[in-house]
Amino acid sequence: MSKTILVTGGAGYVGSHCVLEFLQHNYNVIVVDNLVNAVKLENQEMPESLIRVERLANKKLEKYLTGDLKDQQFIDEIFANNHIDIVVHFAALKSVGESVAKPLEYYENNVSGTINLLKSMRKSKVTKLIFSSSATVYGDPEVLPLVETLPTGQTCTNPYGRSKHMVEVVLKDLCKSSPEWSVMSLRYFNPVGAHSSGDIGEDPQEIPNNLMPFVTQVAVGMRPELKIFGGDYNTPDGTGVRDYIHIEDLSNGHLKALEQITTELWKDFHPINLGTGRGYSVLEVISTFESANGVKIPYKIVDRRPGDVTELYADAKLANEKLGWTATRDMYDMCASAWKWQSKNPKGYKRD
Ligand code: UD1
Repeated sequence: MSKTILVTGGAGYVGSHCVLEFLQHNYNVIVVDNLVNAVKLENQEMPESLIRVERLANKKLEKYLTGDLKDQQFIDEIFANNHIDIVVHFAALKSVGESVAKPLEYYENNVSGTINLLKSMRKSKVTKLIFSSSATVYGDPEVLPLVETLPTGQTCTNPYGRSKHMVEVVLKDLCKSSPEWSVMSLRYFNPVGAHSSGDIGEDPQEIPNNLMPFVTQVAVGMRPELKIFGGDYNTPDGTGVRDYIHIEDLSNGHLKALEQITTELWKDFHPINLGTGRGYSVLEVISTFESANGVKIPYKIVDRRPGDVTELYADAKLANEKLGWTATRDMYDMCASAWKWQSKNPKGYKRD
């Protein structure tokens, strides 16, 4: 019988791509989302991202619910009214700059929201969780590549990063408290790109903080130029280096996680990097984007962005060994798919 997955934050960028992957692999999916980072068009019952996901999968969600993890009663009711096998938890605020200005909102949403979810899960004896974590938990790294056994949390530079670290601490302690729990904490490096159809993708509701959506908005003419934050880093071309991972590789990593989490092997807390193991500089991303898509990206090098680190890339061996997963798409694919999405949907999910 098909398993039923509760996906929190399933209308967002990473969530929607994973929901599509799960539907295409015969899982029943219930999505809950509070719509902070999603577009729901007038007269529509569901966010536009999920309407498109259903169309692409040619399959319906089992249920879509608008609601917030801060509302304990709401989550309790989801578990009371539905049989759920596994929870995949994406719902969180994710803007680094905003987290510095609004730490309480970040800790309340990301940490308290998760604790509420865990309390409801415990009540209904649902003990399998895949958590959307981030390479940000490693903070400012002293050694590269970043391997899961390195310390985390100590050098995080902002409340967003600390909130992801705090959730990992909670999850670890929870697993220690009872042998029933199986938790995978997937530490994403820099997810970019879009589904090959170009029908779903990243749709920031404000000025993008992250590199790729800013690049695509410059390419489509929404913004005049990209500002490169720092040209004097200790890297081959002076710009910051990151491990970018194609969103379809990332969603496939979640599928592998779902397939495995029900086995005894995954009892306890397991952090796993999802990255390619290869770093690209900002200038390399721009030049690949330009040659993949035949568009010019005007840019200017400006001061470093506070809190940015020089270089990050994953040790991706554990995911390969334990999940049988490895990233297969390169920077060219990432840039081509990001552009396909943006050029097909210049205003994202909004209609004119
Ligand atoms: C950021 C967050 C990280 C989060 C991740 C989610 C910070 C400090 N970190 O990672 O916690 O998990 O997003 O995807 O914000 N860049 C520019 N110009 C821009 C935007 C970015 O030059 O307009 C550069 C950055 O300096 C960096 C690289 O591009 O070198 C990637 O930046 P970004 O996409 O924001 O990701 P991270 O900073 O790695």
